[in-house]
Amino acid sequence: MTVGIDLIHFATADYYLGLDTFAREKGTELEKYTVGIGQEKMSIAPPDEDIVTLAAKAARPILDQIDPNSITNVLFATESGVDQSKSAGAYLHGLLGLSNRCRTVELKHACYGGTAALQMACALVTANPKERILVIAADIAKYDVDSSGEATQGCGAVAMLITPDPRILAIEPGSGYFTEDVMDFWRPNHRATALVDGKYSTKVYLNSLKQAWQHFVSETGRSFEQIDAFCYHIPFSRMTEKAHKALCKTVGARLSKNTFQTQTQPGQIYNRVLGNSYSASLFIGFCSFLDNAPDDLSHKRFGLFSYGSGCVAEFLTGIVQPGYEKVLMRGSHQKQIQARTPLTYEQYLTFYYPATQDPDNVTFDVNNRGPYRLSGIQHAIRRYQNRS
Ligand code: CAA
Repeated sequence: MTVGIDLIHFATADYYLGLDTFAREKGTELEKYTVGIGQEKMSIAPPDEDIVTLAAKAARPILDQIDPNSITNVLFATESGVDQSKSAGAYLHGLLGLSNRCRTVELKHACYGGTAALQMACALVTANPKERILVIAADIAKYDVDSSGEATQGCGAVAMLITPDPRILAIEPGSGYFTEDVMDFWRPNHRATALVDGKYSTKVYLNSLKQAWQHFVSETGRSFEQIDAFCYHIPFSRMTEKAHKALCKTVGARLSKNTFQTQTQPGQIYNRVLGNSYSASLFIGFCSFLDNAPDDLSHKRFGLFSYGSGCVAEFLTGIVQPGYEKVLMRGSHQKQIQARTPLTYEQYLTFYYPATQDPDNVTFDVNNRGPYRLSGIQHAIRRYQNRS
């Protein structure tokens, strides 16, 4: 029996900030962003969109294709948690009307959480093939105004259905992983924005890739040459180029420019216009690859590298299943990206840094155009609206 991703769909916000607008505001050359970090736009969530509404928007088209009562677990990975106690998965469970015969939990380790959830889901399904698991990775990336990270914000949520005999990607047994207690990026509980040591974070990312790769090889015996395509965690799309170059150097591979591009480029198309979505970013990159690759990917082996600052990293592989094309949700992905409304820099500030409000009692203006929205918070209770 194979186990892995049976369906995958992502959602993003209805607004974006163009890096052209951003460059003008900061008095910076646009090429620093379009070439230097490889980004064009960042999805920006209005106050009435949070990880729960993004996750529900991501999951809805999957649930519409199956019996929602068959879901036995919701594993919700995020580093943008809305409550220190109640899991975002429980809010999502209510909003989606899932069965009470379902377990729900939130997982965290920076951008790595989604991969932890995927691996746990695969292990649960392997142990009991009756399990049908909804894995969510959802985040809103926020940094301080004028910090180095401000140009690398974004948001998104990915929903994945994990089952036996999956129709999209069979995850292969064995992987390589690496943990080290470092301070490259973190967000203490009292802060809405992350702190980052930007240049150091890219160094730690690349070292973690090397370490996870070496462990992957010793655990699985698979080689670089046996992998057809590579998806990396994408904080900004140029990081994929840095990562793949570093991996080629580690294994001593000398790729032509064309092979290098074929192995990595389709995976960057969406992230380039969405920005960083932390735990969702790797999987949005995977969707991007499947939706945009010019050739049939059936039977191709994908390498997935997940990196979560702080730091935990993992390198794993999966085999694309024949017929996968028939169940992709390319149309929905592309429609959402194209339907977004551009923001001025001032509008972005009002979304991300609103005037001081009582956090326990607030009503949000209607900006979110999606099927689910956060209408407000009353007596510290989050109120969600289902418009689907
Ligand atoms: N034309 C072309 N290229 C230009 C340019 C121009 N006019 N101006 C600058 N550049 C190039 C620079 O040469 C540089 O290229 P290299 O990386 O090849 O040296 C690139 O553009 C970026 O320029 P700077 O290094 O000057 O940019 P910066 O100091 O403002 O910030 C950054 C870059 C540190 C990545 C910053 O965006 C940041 O802090 N981001 C947040 C942290 C992050 O994303 N880290 C990634 C690893 S950690 C992780 O992956 C987890 C996560 O999701 C956060």
